[in-house]
Amino acid sequence: MTDLNTLESDVLAQVAGAADLQALDAVRVAAVGKTGSISGLLKTLGAMSPEERKDRGAAINALRDKVATAITERKAALETAELDARLASETLDLSLPAPHRRKGSVHPTMQTMDEVIAIFAEMGFAVAEGPDIEDDFHNFTALNFPEKHPAREMHDTFFFNTKETGERMLLRTHTSPVQVRTMVSQKPPIRIIAPGRTYRVDNDATHTPVFHQVEGLVIDKAIHMGHLKWTLETFLARFFETDAVTTQFRPHHFPFTEPSAEMDVQCDRSGGEIKIGQGTSWLEILGCGMVHPNVLRACGIDPDEYQGFAFGMGVDRLGMLKYGMPDLRDMWSSDVRWLSHYGFSAFAAPNPASGLS
Ligand code: DAH
Repeated sequence: MTDLNTLESDVLAQVAGAADLQALDAVRVAAVGKTGSISGLLKTLGAMSPEERKDRGAAINALRDKVATAITERKAALETAELDARLASETLDLSLPAPHRRKGSVHPTMQTMDEVIAIFAEMGFAVAEGPDIEDDFHNFTALNFPEKHPAREMHDTFFFNTKETGERMLLRTHTSPVQVRTMVSQKPPIRIIAPGRTYRVDNDATHTPVFHQVEGLVIDKAIHMGHLKWTLETFLARFFETDAVTTQFRPHHFPFTEPSAEMDVQCDRSGGEIKIGQGTSWLEILGCGMVHPNVLRACGIDPDEYQGFAFGMGVDRLGMLKYGMPDLRDMWSSDVRWLSHYGFSAFAAPNPASGLS
């Protein structure tokens, strides 16, 4: 058996001495590869007597296992060393200035959101927030969507799995549930906007599954549609940075407002791109109305004492219109060229006094 002992110490020394993964693999092939030294010994077993094979076979197999284990351990050690060396050579000092001086920029949707917030903040609106994961009560029931009403399906809702309690959470389909949360937790007078992400099962050139809305809500004792119209017209004139904005209310239906309307702005579509403040076409821009008495009641507000208006608009669309971006899907393409073309400086916070964009 001395030959086996010699072979063992030889091979183990080679394994220990392999300087990298490639050298280790060469040792492996030479020992336990198809024509390797240990594999060659295994082949001699067939010609032995059963007695001889018993001892010799066990010894050769033990040798093979020992060598295989040594190779596996050495491989792991070499890999760790290689990774450590790489980590050491690729460290980044984040306190150093960026070598390419590529500036980060504000995404057009966030810029639009900031502009909308700045305008309404100046008009005396507070910003309210609510969760993206909502329950049925806040997203539908309190907003006067009847149980099993097709309007619930129309919203193409992303539902979560039903809980053990039978309740099913959802991704909010609009920012209107923030109206409910605000009215439940605050006493009138209320004057808020609620900017945020919204979700629907929808994906084409003009719809993405995640989009952004800004909701508005005003509740007080003598609020009427005149206030609504003035608020929205003032907002649109400031947003589009022109006094020439002409709007119209078009009758519509929303379960949570009565009467309900969509507001259109006058625009020119003749040159292939949409220009606000001129022309003879109309473009739908938002939904609005007087808060339905059932919604007030569901939130604990007496509709005989208080009333108010609400509106909701799509921020991504407003941004596309103002900054001339033709395809909604570009917003999510994460293309740096698109971002550096349409992005905004992170240092220029929109402000109605010094300029929005
Ligand atoms: N929640 C509506 C939607 O997503 C938008 C909307 C319309 C909001 C009218 C309102 C409103 O507050 O009064 O389609």
